[in-house]
Amino acid sequence: MKRRDLMTSILVAATLAFGICHALADGSGDPTAAKDEDGKYYDKSGTPTFHIAKDGTVDWYTFSGFRRYNASCIVCHGPDGGGSTYAPALIDSLKAISYTDFMNVVVNGKQEVNTAADKVMPAFGTNPNVMCYLDDIFVYLRARSDGALGRGRPQKHADKSKSAEEAENSCMGPEH
Ligand code: HEC
Repeated sequence: MKRRDLMTSILVAATLAFGICHALADGSGDPTAAKDEDGKYYDKSGTPTFHIAKDGTVDWYTFSGFRRYNASCIVCHGPDGGGSTYAPALIDSLKAISYTDFMNVVVNGKQEVNTAADKVMPAFGTNPNVMCYLDDIFVYLRARSDGALGRGRPQKHADKSKSAEEAENSCMGPEH
C-alpha cells in the first residue's frame, strides 16, 4: 500500500470510529432515556440521563442542574460547562469520564499532581447545595456534552414533580 493510501485509510478508520462512538455514547454509555420515574430519566444501564422533548422542553432535573451548575461550578468551569483558563471544560470531560468518576471527583475533589499548576477541584462532599443536586448537575452536563442542549438557560422545562420536591426536602431539610 502506498504511504498516502495508508494515511487515507487511517483517517477514514479514525473518522468512522469517532462517528460511531459519538452516535452511541458518552463516558457513561448511551445517553438515550430508557426509563422515566416521575420525571426523572435513566438510560438503559440505570444511569441518570436527560430528556428533551421535540418542542425543546427539558426535564426538570436538567433545568435544575443548569441552575445548580451556575450557582456552584460556573466560577471555575465557565459558562455552559465550556471551561476556563483555570478549570477544564466539563462538556469535554463527560465524553470520557463515567457517572461514578464524576461523583467521585465532585465528592472528594481532585488536585493536579503537577504542583506548578496549583489547580484544585474542591471537595463538595459536605456541601448540601451541591450534594442534594448531584444528579441534576450531572444530567445537565450530560445533555450539554452530548450536544442535545445548547448554551444558556433552557427556554422551556417540565414542572417539578412531587418526587423531586420530596427528595429535595429530605436532603436539604424542609426549611431550605
Ligand atoms: C474553585 C474552582 C472549582 C470549582 C468551584 C469547581 N471546580 Fe471542578 N475542577 C476544578 C479544577 C481546577 C479541576 C481540574 C483538577 C485536576 O485536574 O487536578 C476540576 C476538575 C473537575 C472534574 C474532573 C474533570 C476531568 O476531566 O477529570 C469534574 C467532574 C469537576 N471538576 C466537576 C465540578 C462540578 C460539578 C462543580 C460544581 C459543583 C465544580 N467542579 C466546581 C476547579 C473547580
